[in-house]
Amino acid sequence: MDIDRSAFGPDTTTDEVVDGLDLSDLSVLITGASGGLGAETARALASKGASVVITARDLTKASAAVDAIKASTGNDDIEIEQLELGSLASIRGFGERWVDGHETLDILINNAGVMACPQGTTDDGFERQFGTNHLGHFLLTGLVAPTLVANGSGRIVNLSSRGHQRDDVHLDDVNFEHRDYDKWAAYGQAKTANVLHAVELDRRLRDRNVRAFAVHPGTIMTDLSRHMQQQDFEALQSRRPAGSMGLKSVAAGAATTVYAATAPELDGMGGIYLEDCGIAPIDDDSQVSGVRSYAVDPERARQLWTLSEGLTGQTFDL
Ligand SMILES: NC(=O)c1ccc[n+]([C@@H]2O[C@H](COP(=O)([O-])OP(=O)(O)OC[C@H]3O[C@@H](n4cnc5c(N)ncnc54)[C@H](OP(=O)(O)O)[C@@H]3O)[C@@H](O)[C@H]2O)c1
Repeated sequence: MDIDRSAFGPDTTTDEVVDGLDLSDLSVLITGASGGLGAETARALASKGASVVITARDLTKASAAVDAIKASTGNDDIEIEQLELGSLASIRGFGERWVDGHETLDILINNAGVMACPQGTTDDGFERQFGTNHLGHFLLTGLVAPTLVANGSGRIVNLSSRGHQRDDVHLDDVNFEHRDYDKWAAYGQAKTANVLHAVELDRRLRDRNVRAFAVHPGTIMTDLSRHMQQQDFEALQSRRPAGSMGLKSVAAGAATTVYAATAPELDGMGGIYLEDCGIAPIDDDSQVSGVRSYAVDPERARQLWTLSEGLTGQTFDL
């Protein structure tokens, strides 16, 4: 029976999103895919023939994930590359290897992330969540973008989160140097940055048929919650309908990413925020859906781009 794509929603799974698609012409790069949503995203795309490169910082963990994907899909065209997003040097090294080894790329999925960690910094002194989740992917995307542009068409998917509703980007203090550190405000800032980054990427690249999307996957139990404490789980529960944690399976959680990367119905679109395999409305009030207006503000997106170029010391001719 054919899948009814117009019925996609919160329970839609990755396999339903790729049902009937032939992805054998596509090359995909996914960050942080040694487990969680990234590994499931890689599996679903590989199951329809895509050529996939995943990045990881723990190569042993990544090898186990890739072996399982190869075994379950029969697709051997899956490679692992070492990448530490908390190090500009690691990202630059990866970027050089990437453009040396690849002429084109169809889909970049900026998936890796950390959430609500204790205050800390990346190797280059940036607040850990903003540095890893945004600045790392900002630099990476700029370095591999020439292969997307050379391809003649492509998509970029940034994993954001409903957590973006927690806070805007503080352009004058992204590193919490002049305010008290709050782990959820830091996650919110970083995840808002992921949306703004997609908005500005789309503005800069759409003339060359490379489109960018931001995604909220849902709430899924993965290793992302490793820094959460009992009170954090209780706060999460208090925002959910009675008796429900509102949790998704990993296959349903990764579905919106796979949808953003492959859905034919998104052709010609970009610079938008997706959730539950659909386009989310701009909403400044809801705590359970939608994207905040500050996260899709084109002027803020431009300002964040300029700030990010300054912080990483790298400008991009995009
Ligand atoms: N799960 C949810 O409910 C949820 C909700 C909203 C948004 N998201 C977003 O979805 C994305 C994937 O999350 P997930 O749930 O799949 O979490 P996960 O299982 O913890 O996966 C995160 C991945 O990012 C990698 N990573 C973390 N820090 C890194 C660094 N400094 N350099 C390179 N890689 C790094 C991790 O590598 P290691 O294995 O080495 O740690 C892991 O592969 C994240 O961006 C997250 O913010 C998730």
